[in-house]
Amino acid sequence: MTEHPDALTTLLSRYSTAELSGPEPTDSELRHMLEAAVRAPDHGKLRPWRFLVVRGGARLELAQLYAEAALRREPGAAPDKIEKERAKPMRSPLTIGVVAKVTENHKIPVVEQVLSGGAAAMNILNAAWAMGFAAKWVTGANAYDPMFLQALGVSAPDQLLGFLQIGRPAGTVPAPERPDPGQFTTEWHR
Ligand SMILES: Cc1cc2nc3c(=O)[nH]c(=O)nc-3n(C[C@H](O)[C@H](O)[C@H](O)COP(=O)(O)O)c2cc1C
Repeated sequence: MTEHPDALTTLLSRYSTAELSGPEPTDSELRHMLEAAVRAPDHGKLRPWRFLVVRGGARLELAQLYAEAALRREPGAAPDKIEKERAKPMRSPLTIGVVAKVTENHKIPVVEQVLSGGAAAMNILNAAWAMGFAAKWVTGANAYDPMFLQALGVSAPDQLLGFLQIGRPAGTVPAPERPDPGQFTTEWHR
């Protein structure tokens, strides 16, 4: 059996980082992330995922959507609150929106399709980490705001599973403590 010790090092060291800077991933690095994504387990070969790549000037357009959505949800919001929202997509040079492309009334339950999307997202985070990038998976109110989603081009029954913000760590973030997996694990016997 082939062993992949480097892969295990990646899995056992990854953590999230919010403040990210350039240089942004190259096209080839981005391609590796997406190739990892489509290795997600996929019951029924539905390919139940879509990836929205936002980089370069498109970040400003996403930032504008964030600001508009925040103002729509809270018309009386203070300007600095809206600007805080606008700044969020600018925190990383690359954002990948992960969408679960849902087929309803299919023998593969919707939850399995959504889980496949989650697995694709996780594979992107791990591939990014393996290539020396840091990342953070975020949702926030936008992910559940139908008008924001419409502007993004996502409509029901599809679901935006989140935005993966990806870049180089802007500072040094200490690795967070992890719980002992034994706390969540039992040896099951009938
Ligand atoms: C579906 C999903 C949505 C998330 N949304 C947010 C978010 O909107 N804001 C946030 O600060 N963290 C969010 N998180 C948590 C971070 O991605 C991250 O897991 C957390 O900061 C802990 O860091 P760690 O990955 O190093 O354990 C989300 C995680 C998941 C799985």
